[in-house]
Amino acid sequence: MKKSIYQFEFEEFDTIDELNSSDKSLLLAAREVTKIAYAPYSEFLVGAAAMLNNGEVVKGTNQENASYSVGICAERTLLASAAMLYPNIGIQTMAIAYHNLNGTSNEPVSPCGICRQSINEFEGRTKQPIRLILSGMEGKVMIIEKASMLLPMSFGSDNLLQDTKK
Ligand code: THU
Repeated sequence: MKKSIYQFEFEEFDTIDELNSSDKSLLLAAREVTKIAYAPYSEFLVGAAAMLNNGEVVKGTNQENASYSVGICAERTLLASAAMLYPNIGIQTMAIAYHNLNGTSNEPVSPCGICRQSINEFEGRTKQPIRLILSGMEGKVMIIEKASMLLPMSFGSDNLLQDTKK
């Protein structure tokens, strides 16, 4: 028997003003785009902005639906747009912000489980880790160097490979 521990490092900042200028402008873009999120049911407006390897910035917002489960998160809206507009181009950094119309927006939130799986696949297909900047509309900011750190022991394409020796 063997016991293992999983842990990862992340950075915390008290405000956006502690970030370098490129991180700051990406987070500002994510905060700005929350304004056009379509979230009439939850009133939880999420915006994401990503810097790609080709220098382009792609954004996404959550897109809800009267049939609730049809809704899609901001992160996956962004990933689908990026993959369609710029196929095979890696994402260096993705900033994710939210504006909670029914509460405060001053603590970072991190991507939901489905988005973590989706981000993992994007990292794998572009062979590049995605750096995450997480924050609300104000206050604390968290930076995670590799999004895959958020999904330990994940299921991925490698698990589907056939073992030819069997
Ligand atoms: N949501 C996102 O867009 N991203 C997240 O990381 C967490 C949750 C959306 C889904 C839904 O439209 C609303 O926020 C409330 O869960």
